[in-house]
Amino acid sequence: MAEQLISRGEAADRRPAGPQRIPGGGAFRESNGGETVWRPGHPFLFDAWYLAGYESEFASGMIARTILDQPILFFRDADGKVAALEDRCPHVGAPLSLGTLEDGAVRCGYHGMVFEGSGRCTHIPGQDKIPPEACVYRYPIRQRAEHVWIWMGDAAKAADHPLPDFAEDDTFFSWPRYQGLLEMECNYSLMLQNLMDLTHLAYVHADSIGGNPADHAVDKVTPRKTENGVAFLRELREVDAPGRYTERFGRAEKLDRWSEFEFVAPAVIRQNSGWGPAGTRVIEERGGILLDKMLHAITPATASRSYYFFHAADGADPDHDRARERLSKLPKIILEDIAVTEAQQRRLEGVDPRSLVAIRSDRPRLMMIEDLDRRIRQEQAARAQ
Ligand code: FES
Ligand SMILES: [Fe+2]
Repeated sequence: MAEQLISRGEAADRRPAGPQRIPGGGAFRESNGGETVWRPGHPFLFDAWYLAGYESEFASGMIARTILDQPILFFRDADGKVAALEDRCPHVGAPLSLGTLEDGAVRCGYHGMVFEGSGRCTHIPGQDKIPPEACVYRYPIRQRAEHVWIWMGDAAKAADHPLPDFAEDDTFFSWPRYQGLLEMECNYSLMLQNLMDLTHLAYVHADSIGGNPADHAVDKVTPRKTENGVAFLRELREVDAPGRYTERFGRAEKLDRWSEFEFVAPAVIRQNSGWGPAGTRVIEERGGILLDKMLHAITPATASRSYYFFHAADGADPDHDRARERLSKLPKIILEDIAVTEAQQRRLEGVDPRSLVAIRSDRPRLMMIEDLDRRIRQEQAARAQ
């Protein structure tokens, strides 16, 4: 009977279904069959590539991560490729990550069953016959440059979707770089929203990259829809250098600053930005004395916990040691953002988003919310059919 209920090879279908979550303007209504509550941020879009980690993290050993509420175990299989398996043994459910890695296969730490990178069981202690349902769901994985991406939705659709492009080009990799990962106790969309409204620089990053709040209040922001999401150009002309940078630019020198941000749905933002002396056409030419390219990949762990991967390159400083030193300050700056989004998460639980007020600077952020809402609603409608 059990074999009919769980048909062979359909390990994917054994992943537990989560609660119902309906998006609604930067928050979502969640119900588990009973009470419905408002929760901050966005529900998940399943048919998408999410950044699972940097290649260097998967050099050896096992890494356990929760992505979109699903426990996943990463390791190098016998062919040296990164494998991602559901982190739950099909026997009686022990996390496979508590087991051991043996020649590119994982041995469950409870009763010793062995699973290869494909999810197939290759050994059951004391038993010759291996039932076909003794397999673990294997997530599609794709790697480009130093980034390992995981497909969280219907595996049959993965091949039709390209990886998010964030200019992983030769230029990026030839510049001094910094890769980081921070975990945060907030919904992924709260951080995406943070990145889509840069007026926060004046307050959240007052001591680091912010500068004079009055300069940020008169920014020029030009948002536009793109095929993959929403992009904007932000221009600041004749502004003060932030305190930390007065040594570099001179206390009295005025700067022009530009930023191009693109939200690539559902969880990536790519950034290009530059600063240079005012009036030197740095905005028009997308140049500057400071020039940064950056990937922000915000991978949801749960509805209220996320991974923030940031990978930045400095393309302007001829002194590479100094560039690396500057980039190494990034975690401190990002922790300033995380302190706010985590506090928002706590304060927004149960809050109807219609009770919040929108202001002038919200346009790109609201366009992003609308774009993500629409994609999630479309996916939910397609899945319901
Ligand atoms: S739970 Fe894994 S072998 Fe028993
Ligand atoms: Fe920030």
